[in-house]
Amino acid sequence: MPESPSTIPQARKSNDYFKMPRSPLLNHYETEIKKSSGKKGLYLITDFLTKRVWSWMYYYLDSRFGKKHPYPDYANGETGIYSLRKSASSSDDYISLALAADWATYTTESIRIADEIKKHSPDFTIHLGDTYYVGAPFEINANFVETGSPWVRGSVGSFAILGNHEMYARGDAFFDKLLPALGILDSAGKFDAQKAGFFCLENEHWRILGLDTGYHSIGRIPVFELFKWFAPDCHFDKILMRWLKEKLHLDDPLDKRGLLILTHHQYITAFKGEDEYAVPARQLAALIGTERPVLWIWGHEHKLSIFEKAQLNNGVTAYGRCIGHGGMPVEVKSGSFRLSPSAGGYPHLVAVDDRVMLERDNVALGYNGYVLLKIKDNILTIEYYDKEQMLFSETWRVDNNGVISGNILITPECPLRPEKPWEEAVK
Ligand SMILES: [Fe+2]
Repeated sequence: MPESPSTIPQARKSNDYFKMPRSPLLNHYETEIKKSSGKKGLYLITDFLTKRVWSWMYYYLDSRFGKKHPYPDYANGETGIYSLRKSASSSDDYISLALAADWATYTTESIRIADEIKKHSPDFTIHLGDTYYVGAPFEINANFVETGSPWVRGSVGSFAILGNHEMYARGDAFFDKLLPALGILDSAGKFDAQKAGFFCLENEHWRILGLDTGYHSIGRIPVFELFKWFAPDCHFDKILMRWLKEKLHLDDPLDKRGLLILTHHQYITAFKGEDEYAVPARQLAALIGTERPVLWIWGHEHKLSIFEKAQLNNGVTAYGRCIGHGGMPVEVKSGSFRLSPSAGGYPHLVAVDDRVMLERDNVALGYNGYVLLKIKDNILTIEYYDKEQMLFSETWRVDNNGVISGNILITPECPLRPEKPWEEAVK
């Protein structure tokens, strides 16, 4: 019997990740310090921070200047397109999918979120990227692969998309260790492996596209990528674009199914110091146009934020939702929670969860959380949870002409205070 996730020893504490810089250099530094400590397992960053700087520099230069993992495509008749279906043992009248982003910290907090997800017995689970610190093999193993690791697999299948952090270790462990441990559960009780970093789950009414913005989130020259002017654009790889066109026929105007896009990186933001990745939105627009509204859930920013319908920079029209509060500390008093009027998403922000849950080491922490999707015929419900309760939900309906319409349900107990009326989130 596998060990209960709640009893796994050596889980990292949130303190390890406070004020963790996003720069590849520093993230890689932290992992190499841990690796070079000679100890087995996962450790506190405060054990090591500065002593092994030359050792880190050696490892960093050695790994970051090497080649990225080759980009896998589907082959041998596999398409990466799977049917949305319930588990045979499910008594629900809907298909359920649990989503978490920026979850893989291997902390007591991330394990708590996994435990909450498990209570729903979802048919599918999807991780929207970022394994900390850099998606190194031992980090992928601890979060997802080893017996007793906390990630919950759906009773039908489980998938993952790349974040930037897995690419700080060049994607090797993501492609070679994580993906083989995911996929669809086969009749022998084994997951048949996710073969590429993108996928589609579909039925006759909806398509859920897991798309990869992580592979091109690091630059060709490591030092250059540290400067904002040379920041990579997170574009979809040409293999992924070919798959969208030739396998998915996403540009088929006769396909009226509702589209839910999942990526790691955000299309828009309302916050200071955060970026807006317009190129993937334009690549999607090249296939479906700029007018057809889609639902788009992303992570990367460590917060829960909800936007009204928006179309920017010649990208698609999207109802954007950020759920990057899966497992990283949600530093609600930090600069990344400050609104930026110059951000494209600023006028479109409906709500952000900036509640303070507790304070540790003089840092105010917000709530971690996740999302549960429920699909019944042409109706898609999105429920937003923190570790204790459901905060609010929205229900989307797609009609035969491909028009999606939404309703948002806010209970009187909802603790969030919106920036504008909640109804704006679904208009
Ligand atoms: Fe990220």
